[in-house]
Amino acid sequence: MNLIFLGPPGAGKGTQAAMVAAKYGIPHISTGDMLRGAIAQGTEMGLAAKAYMDKGELVPDEVVIGVVRDRLAQSDCAKGFILDGFPRTVVQAETLAGIVSIDHAILVDLDDESIVARMAGRRTCPACQATYHIDSLGGSQTCAKCGATLIQRTDDAPETVRNRLAVYHQKTQPLVDYYEGAGVLARIDGSQTIDAVFQAICGLLGAVR
Ligand code: AP5
Ligand code: MG
Repeated sequence: MNLIFLGPPGAGKGTQAAMVAAKYGIPHISTGDMLRGAIAQGTEMGLAAKAYMDKGELVPDEVVIGVVRDRLAQSDCAKGFILDGFPRTVVQAETLAGIVSIDHAILVDLDDESIVARMAGRRTCPACQATYHIDSLGGSQTCAKCGATLIQRTDDAPETVRNRLAVYHQKTQPLVDYYEGAGVLARIDGSQTIDAVFQAICGLLGAVR
């Protein structure tokens, strides 16, 4: 089961990818999480990527493609994987097509206004990458999974979110047509509850297995 989760920033790709990965026992590969991990470790690649991420710009294709190529070569990807946030450009999609075949590109879609509201309330765990929203945290500031203190991502500042949305519409949205043309696109309404989105994705995967 080789899956891509496509969609604008904040649509819920990471939330759903984690749930689907747990249900189907396949790895969740988030390029954003991998880049943030490299920044936290202070690697040369992480430091180079940080300048782009802080502005809401895309990290250069050759950097991200290298990271994904190495990750897909690991043995746990043999029975399937979820790519969350990759590919994001036509060049990335075309390169990926030369490495693996894709069974489903799942577009979790949401309008820009709802996205801005979601991002303002997002809190993330810097240790295990779990994602929360302040509306469901009940005032807690610690991760329910590992106990670390939650943080707000630096690229969730409103002006950076607006730039990320502009970049999405310009560079990543063309992939919707790309994967529709390839016959593997599935559209999921990301404005539903987290559970309803999850059921819709499981219905899609169950129906085609
Ligand atoms: P990345 O980390 O991938 O960020 P993104 O695509 O902008 O998406 P997000 O992680 O912000 O949102 P999400 O869709 O995962 O939503 P989430 O589940 O968290 O990339 C960050 C940066 O890294 C990029 O800007 C770029 O610089 C670089 N990068 C990464 N990949 C790259 C690539 N391939 N090429 C080049 N550069 C790359 O949910 C959001 C919030 O909403 C949370 O608070 C959550 O609790 C809440 N929520 C989720 N679902 C629901 C729901 N159904 N109802 C209500 N609330 C919900
Ligand atoms: Mg994410």
